[in-house]
This record gives sequence, C-alpha cells and structure tokens, in this order.
Amino acid sequence: MPVERVGVAFEPELLKDFDALIAKQGYANRSEAVRDLVRDALSRSRLAHKDCKGIGTISILYNHHDGDVMHRLVHLQHDRRAEILTTTHIHVNDALCLEVLIAKGKASEIRRLADGIRALKGVQHGEVVITDTIE
Ligand code: NI
Repeated sequence: MPVERVGVAFEPELLKDFDALIAKQGYANRSEAVRDLVRDALSRSRLAHKDCKGIGTISILYNHHDGDVMHRLVHLQHDRRAEILTTTHIHVNDALCLEVLIAKGKASEIRRLADGIRALKGVQHGEVVITDTIE
C-alpha cells in the first residue's frame, strides 16, 4: 500500500519517553507505533458512536457456588441484543470458573451485556475488549 510521509514535531522529552515505551513494546520503528496509535484513536472514536457495530470478547471469573450466578449468566446470554458467537468455560479450581464470551452486534449492546454480567453477584472479575467492524 502506498504511504504518505508526514513530519511530526515532538518536544525532546516526549520523544525520549515515546521511544522508550515503543522499544519496550517491541516496535521496530516509530512509524508503525504511530500508525497503531492513530488506528486505536480512530477505532475508539467509531466505537463511541451508539450505532457502531463491533465484535468483542467478554472475559469473566466467577465462583459457581455463589447463589444462582450460573442461572443468571445463562439468562443474560439469551437476551440476544448482542449475538454471542461462542463461549469457552474452564473450571479453574473447586470454586472458580473462567468464561470467555465472543459477541458481535452494536458495541453499545456488547458493553451493556458485559456490564450486566460484571454486576452479577459471584462474578469477581470481568473485562470487555471490543473492536469495531467495518461492514
Ligand atoms: Ni466451571
């Protein structure tokens, strides 16, 4: 893909910190790191729009002994405003389960689903990562 070159001015201290950060992250050069930052900013901007479609993972850790958490989890997943494509369940130990859900739909609905799941009693940890999809 053809590229256009642009010049960007940095304060020396900012550039030093940026170079240290991207070296730690494993970038071979500044251009790729800057392009990734721009892609992230554009993606976040698109995801902020209420109708933006996305695909995302919801990872949760919960104690299956805690009340009716499993029943409530299934109930939320059948809501269907965000389509769940697959789930993975791992029995971590006697009490804890790790579950990863992959869902697609409106980013706002995926976030709403994740918020509902995180709020359940028994869910100890929850994270959601959404990428916008361009259709
Ligand atoms: Ni389990």
